[in-house]
Amino acid sequence: MSIAKALHYPFAAGMLPLPARGFVLNVQADSDLSPALRAFTCVTGFKPAHDALTSAGFPVVQVLPDGDWPAGLCLLTKHKAESLASIAQAWAALPVGGLLVCCGDNDTGVTSLMKAVKDTFGEIESLSKYHARVFWLRKAAGPEPAILADWRAGGAVRPVAATGFTAGPGMHGWNKIDIGSRLLAAQFPGSIRGRVADLGAGWGYLSAELLRAAPGRITGLDLYEADAASLAASAVNVAPLAGNTVLKYHWADVTAGLPKGRFDWVITNPPFHAGKATDVTLGSQFITRAAEALGTGGTLLLVANKHLPYEAVIEKHFKSRRTVAEADGFKVIEGKR
Ligand SMILES: C[S@@+](CC[C@H](N)C(=O)[O-])C[C@H]1O[C@@H](n2cnc3c(N)ncnc32)[C@H](O)[C@@H]1O
Repeated sequence: MSIAKALHYPFAAGMLPLPARGFVLNVQADSDLSPALRAFTCVTGFKPAHDALTSAGFPVVQVLPDGDWPAGLCLLTKHKAESLASIAQAWAALPVGGLLVCCGDNDTGVTSLMKAVKDTFGEIESLSKYHARVFWLRKAAGPEPAILADWRAGGAVRPVAATGFTAGPGMHGWNKIDIGSRLLAAQFPGSIRGRVADLGAGWGYLSAELLRAAPGRITGLDLYEADAASLAASAVNVAPLAGNTVLKYHWADVTAGLPKGRFDWVITNPPFHAGKATDVTLGSQFITRAAEALGTGGTLLLVANKHLPYEAVIEKHFKSRRTVAEADGFKVIEGKR
């Protein structure tokens, strides 16, 4: 169940008058936003959400513009720091008397976020619906609570000591290297060279490791990533390692299609979540797109959780398939075109 449905509930049930305009933060691709919110500006850096909302007729932007917003709606994520930063952002954007409505899934820590908001701003109203919690309040006059600066800082993109890279909360594996990606990077063969694409590049771990493993052998490296903030972080992490490699960054939904026959190698740790559920459809679409993007003789190197059944789709689209490594619950598979 999408939390966007719960977010709209206080309006639908007549508990709150629906403002004529406003903004919505953190809309996901599977957000089922009510058409009644069509005058609301959706803020999302996630390309599939951006595309879906645009087709549904919502105004969509990557960054919340300054404006006189009577209401701010905030979809809370499972990453507490990211959610608190969004609440602080929404609060700062509202005028005194502006309405802030937040909604989070019961399974992803909404109760503690609601408590943090209550402790900071005072009285709130709330309801439970569709396995989610919605809470709201109006912005009071007075100075901004000091803790909001911490909330903003907590959500910021920054150098992460544990990885040696730059990333931020909400990005995949932002403060620890993904075990599967580490396994894949350890398998980059000496033969890898030419034009390479990194699909679902995140903040750039695989691309960075590739440039370190194959200095001077990669002529072009194209990073495809749906999340704009991750892609921006990848540029910070990867550009210093480029040497003579031509880097290109694509804010893209990989499932929507890639240039045909463009690459010699594709590396990927594909996403396996659509919303909360594990979904092999997304990974399978990545494999199909990788096959199309590779020229004859091109090679796919993919890492996945051991239990995810990608073998059949690789066999369907590639001449040969072999398992290159297995460890820690992950497998690295190679497919040759
Ligand atoms: C498992 S993570 C891998 C991240 C990074 N390559 C690594 O190894 O740590 C998958 C990445 O795919 C991105 N992603 C999800 N859906 C996507 C889509 N439809 N098109 C492009 N990227 C997508 C996610 O934002 C995420 O960064």
